[in-house]
Amino acid sequence: MEQYNIQWFPGHMKKTERLIKDNISLVDLVVELIDSRAPISSQNPMLNNLIKSKPRVLLLAKSDLSDSNANRQWIKHFKDKDISAMMVDCKNKKIVKNVVHLIRETLADLIALRSQKGISGKIIRIMVVGIPNVGKSTFINSLVGRYKVKTEDRPGVTMDKQWIHVDGNIDLLDTPGTLWPKFDNLLIGLHLAFIGSIKDDVYDVEYIAMQLLDYLSKNYPDLLKERFKIEFADNKEPYEKLEDLGRARGMIIKGGEIDTLRAANALLFEYRSGKLGRITLEMPNDDIIY
Ligand code: G4P
Repeated sequence: MEQYNIQWFPGHMKKTERLIKDNISLVDLVVELIDSRAPISSQNPMLNNLIKSKPRVLLLAKSDLSDSNANRQWIKHFKDKDISAMMVDCKNKKIVKNVVHLIRETLADLIALRSQKGISGKIIRIMVVGIPNVGKSTFINSLVGRYKVKTEDRPGVTMDKQWIHVDGNIDLLDTPGTLWPKFDNLLIGLHLAFIGSIKDDVYDVEYIAMQLLDYLSKNYPDLLKERFKIEFADNKEPYEKLEDLGRARGMIIKGGEIDTLRAANALLFEYRSGKLGRITLEMPNDDIIY
């Protein structure tokens, strides 16, 4: 397991830290994107320290890929905690536009105060943050139209900071803050790998696919059966399940051996793209500790 315990990438996080620290005082609100399939693992625990008491809207992205029953539970969970949260399919402009209402609702006190002071037209400035691949650029593009978003988290961004006009009196910082995922906990690392937030060359693809297959055969057996037309017996070892999957797809190499690497890549691709169905990996009461 040694190889899964090293990835905290302090260099990347330093750049993001600088970006957020340089800009946090300029914005009225932070939009944090997390992945609705893994809302615990896709958060970055350092963000709280960086943005402190700044108002925040939490968007659970890729809600078209996560289990709708789990989505309801997550929204209730955040509502109970008084956190402004919303499920979003970042590709859906109509859904994304509703975020503007949530931003105004979250900033109701500030907007009222500005109105009292006679500055109700003052621009509301926001910034978007989230781990790589969570949907930041897609979200911003859906929110503001065909604007080309800068996705790099390069240092010195304050030199050429630009604001994109969103709607009414809301402006958005054009450079999203890329938070590096924290995956020194094995389960968090696995979940981030399943959803594709960790590059495939960081880990062993077959190992990750076996773990995913194990989770799916326990939690979503019907979806697996529907997609691959086979039943995965509980008593089988994960590697045997991967072989079954490869066999079911006719992934055979010379000598009749099963191409388990191809089977692993197929499973991961089909899970990540939603072809397997809507699947959530984490529920509000799950005991996953950073
Ligand atoms: P980032 O800026 O946070 O790094 O993420 P980005 O917007 O680039 O999105 C990463 C991938 O996730 C893209 O897919 C994007 O289309 C997809 N995506 C983003 N938000 C959603 C969502 O809410 N639902 C679904 N189903 N997919 C989403 P890609 O395969 O890298 O590119 P492409 O398919 O758009 O060509």
